[in-house]
Amino acid sequence: MIINSNSVEETQNLAQALARVITPGTTILLNGDLGAGKTTFTQGFARELGIKRPVKSPTFTLVREYQTPAFMLYHLDVYRLGEEGGAEDLGLSEYFNPDSVALVEWSEFITDDLPDDVLVIDLSRIAGDATEQQRQIELSATGPHSQHVLDQLGIDDGTRN
Ligand SMILES: Nc1ncnc2c1ncn2[C@@H]1O[C@H](COP(=O)(O)OP(=O)(O)OP(=O)(O)O)[C@@H](O)[C@H]1O
Ligand SMILES: [Mg+2]
Repeated sequence: MIINSNSVEETQNLAQALARVITPGTTILLNGDLGAGKTTFTQGFARELGIKRPVKSPTFTLVREYQTPAFMLYHLDVYRLGEEGGAEDLGLSEYFNPDSVALVEWSEFITDDLPDDVLVIDLSRIAGDATEQQRQIELSATGPHSQHVLDQLGIDDGTRN
């Protein structure tokens, strides 16, 4: 599924639509360059789940935990591990479990810890976009759980609202 976003609001609308169909046990990989919109997406997602606390990037803590009514939400940003030359065994895989939802920025630095079944969201700037506000957002699934979530998103297409 590929969606074009023309603003922060449109990116967060998509994130909110995903939050409405998310189920515990989903791991979401947010891929894209610095400033692509990974944290912006997470903010819209968390807000839809009723999180009032400001969602800030956990670059130095690696992970922030939020309690939603139904499950724990983990926001990981492991960029720092890449700068440090890779992760040892940090036990991050405990955040990817059947009872919670995790969003991961810079997951390429913790590939060994990731589950097989993940929802991948690739955010990229659009070449020649003078406004700097446009993003292409591609969603894909690598297993049955994440595919089911994606199928539900297709039905409840939040890009309309
Ligand atoms: N359509 C859009 N979707 C998302 N963000 C946008 C869009 N247009 C402009 N922006 C801007 O791009 C920036 C995205 O920053 P954000 O922190 O979300 O990126 P990031 O991918 O998390 O980067 P990092 O790798 O540094 O953590 C924000 O300043 C936001 O206002
Ligand atoms: Mg970020």
